[in-house]
Amino acid sequence: WPRTSSRVEGALTVGGLDVRELAREFGTPLYVLDEDDVRSRMRDYATAFAGSEVHYAGKAFLCKEIVRWLQDEGLGVDVASGGELAVALSVGFPAERITLHGNNKSAAELTRALEAGVGHIVVDSYEEIARLGYLAERHGKRPKVMVRVTTGVEAHTHEFIATAHDDQKFGLSLNSGAAAEAVRRILALPSLELVGLHSHIGSQIVDTAGFEVAARRLASLLVQIKEEHGVVLPELDLGGGYGIAYVEDDEAPDIKLVADGLREIVRKVCTDAGLPVPRLAVEPGRTIVGPGGITLYEVGTVKDVEGLRTYVSIDGGMSDNVRTALYGAEYTAVLASRESTAPPMLSRVVGKHCESGDMVVRDCYLPADLAPGDLIAIAATGAYCRSLASNYNYLPRPAVVAVADGEARVIVRGETEDDLLRGQL
Ligand code: LLP
Repeated sequence: WPRTSSRVEGALTVGGLDVRELAREFGTPLYVLDEDDVRSRMRDYATAFAGSEVHYAGKAFLCKEIVRWLQDEGLGVDVASGGELAVALSVGFPAERITLHGNNKSAAELTRALEAGVGHIVVDSYEEIARLGYLAERHGKRPKVMVRVTTGVEAHTHEFIATAHDDQKFGLSLNSGAAAEAVRRILALPSLELVGLHSHIGSQIVDTAGFEVAARRLASLLVQIKEEHGVVLPELDLGGGYGIAYVEDDEAPDIKLVADGLREIVRKVCTDAGLPVPRLAVEPGRTIVGPGGITLYEVGTVKDVEGLRTYVSIDGGMSDNVRTALYGAEYTAVLASRESTAPPMLSRVVGKHCESGDMVVRDCYLPADLAPGDLIAIAATGAYCRSLASNYNYLPRPAVVAVADGEARVIVRGETEDDLLRGQL
């Protein structure tokens, strides 16, 4: 739950505000983001990784207001498309603190990044190296590039969000020699400035050993590059992927310990090989915005399927949180609008979409007197919920409200029927 949440007279509060008031004023479903929580996690990262770069991964949740918070707290931002880049640039975020990612950046996206002068472009394929080399030359630019390296680490997470084993679409393989070949090709292009290597092993990872293995392998590749080309690359970007707690027994890594561990490994490998220690960068997304967000829903129906469980239908579903349907994600749900002493009943919190896989919480216990009109809150929905939201079944995407010190501000307006019809001929 967000750092400022508590219970007052039975009702859940966040940022000093009663969720019943929030639901009344802004409607449901509603994403609520605890500004103090998010900002303090930004600061925690800046402190833990002092001397390194922290680039928030915008894919977790990006909007203008988040970019302003990043700017206030001194973080950079990583973007994965021209759209994310446009959001960051729209509020005057300094381009040199933006990193552009993606396994299939279009020529238009690369050109926009070159024109804006983004700090880093992480290249992901041979074709991109050639394409970017050509575009940079044509525009008279010399961007800083990093090679996305697939380190072969087995990250213990869902298949769809593990990214460092060889058999997937991202990066250039260390084991097969593709990463070393990419380095050769970049060094041969005068319009590109190769500054470092990048690795992202996956997401929602709680066992930090994988990050350390990846860091060690990347540092070894730096050594190899020095031997082969006489070039010392000054930067190493270790990506994001640190996990958060979604349900009670979940463990989450201590970011300070992760930071210290990674720094030490890179320092050791490089100094043992007589290389200067590179400047580190990390790209956390989920750990920054995830825990500070909750989603509020209103219960519409409570259906008891005899002898099995109770299906609690809410006024949103897989269009505002697809993670359960997509990754089998687990969540915590509570009755938020009042306290109840009724016995717990085995429940499944389901959405209003036309699919039986449309569930937000697969199994949880909610009080047996749950009734239409009650508010349910789901914890830890700040990351990858609004950013993955869709208009399936023409549901408008809910608003995002930031709360702090007893005040609520809409930071992303909820969609209306007009928004849904816009663009249709
Ligand atoms: N850097 C790169 C290059 C990435 O691909 C990602 C996430 C991150 C950083 C940030 O990872 P984080 O710290 O947020 O774990 N939709 C999935 C997660 C997909 C993550 C994609 N890449 C989910 O809801 O779990």
